[in-house]
Amino acid sequence: MKHIIVPATSANMGSGFDSIGIAFQKYNHLWFVEMESGAEILVNRKHDLKIPVDKTNLIYKTMANFFKMVGKPMPGVRLIQEDYIPHTRGLGSSAACIVAGLMAANDLSGCHYSREKLAQIAAKIEGHPDNSNPAILGGMVVGALDDKEMRHVKIDIPEYLSFAIMVPDFPLETSKSRGILPYTVLRKDAIFNSSRAALLVASMITGNIDNLKMAMDDRLHQPYRMSLVPGMTDIFEAADKFGAKGSYLSGAGPTLVSVITDDMADEFAIKMNTYLSSIPNEWHLEILKPDLEGARIVEG
Ligand code: HSE
Repeated sequence: MKHIIVPATSANMGSGFDSIGIAFQKYNHLWFVEMESGAEILVNRKHDLKIPVDKTNLIYKTMANFFKMVGKPMPGVRLIQEDYIPHTRGLGSSAACIVAGLMAANDLSGCHYSREKLAQIAAKIEGHPDNSNPAILGGMVVGALDDKEMRHVKIDIPEYLSFAIMVPDFPLETSKSRGILPYTVLRKDAIFNSSRAALLVASMITGNIDNLKMAMDDRLHQPYRMSLVPGMTDIFEAADKFGAKGSYLSGAGPTLVSVITDDMADEFAIKMNTYLSSIPNEWHLEILKPDLEGARIVEG
């Protein structure tokens, strides 16, 4: 069997709504092999009972669509899915399934499309490239879509940055979190975000990390989603007090992310864990480094 790993991703990074995202060293696994016919889908880690093991499985569906797109018959497959990216938490679990499916189908079909081509396909399927780009390419990726294509740039970020991921015990469906957003925004809010998204990218590239707090601020989605994530503002304030360089809602939420430096990671984790245990809901904190390679076929 071949083995694919796909990193968790965090979209928006505050101001880069539907455009910017980053990959972390936390992975979903997929093992796949061709069979004569049929579909045998096994889900390890059965605690997540919601993952279908029939042809409605998202990885399988993506593979079937890929084969249809390239005009080849879908072969029989055996898939083993093992997820470590939590579901409905804003860490790109759906994008990870889509990317895993595309990579497996790309391999089995003999198409050997480039990562670039797969990134184009994934962005089209998702409708925005902020999870799929970092899932495929790794690192922090800035992307933009029009009717014809997706353009993207993977940017360098300071090596000494870590990301404190705070995952609550409650889910939040992306459709609900997008449904709460207004269709139109004020010009001053558009200016607020475009200036901050530009500042975010420039600050990461140049290592001006003291800009991140302002650069990750947002008026296009976070203020509206706040009501769906109890504790968000207080946690951002606590993170700021404990020395975070900036904090944001990960993707559609409800996970929150604080950017910290490696040298303060232990102290931040102790203080933040103490704080998180004092507020309602269970919050699980994990300090992660960025994944710089993106989804890949690995040995074993
Ligand atoms: N940019 C997307 C959002 C990511 O915030 O809704 C989740 O799909």
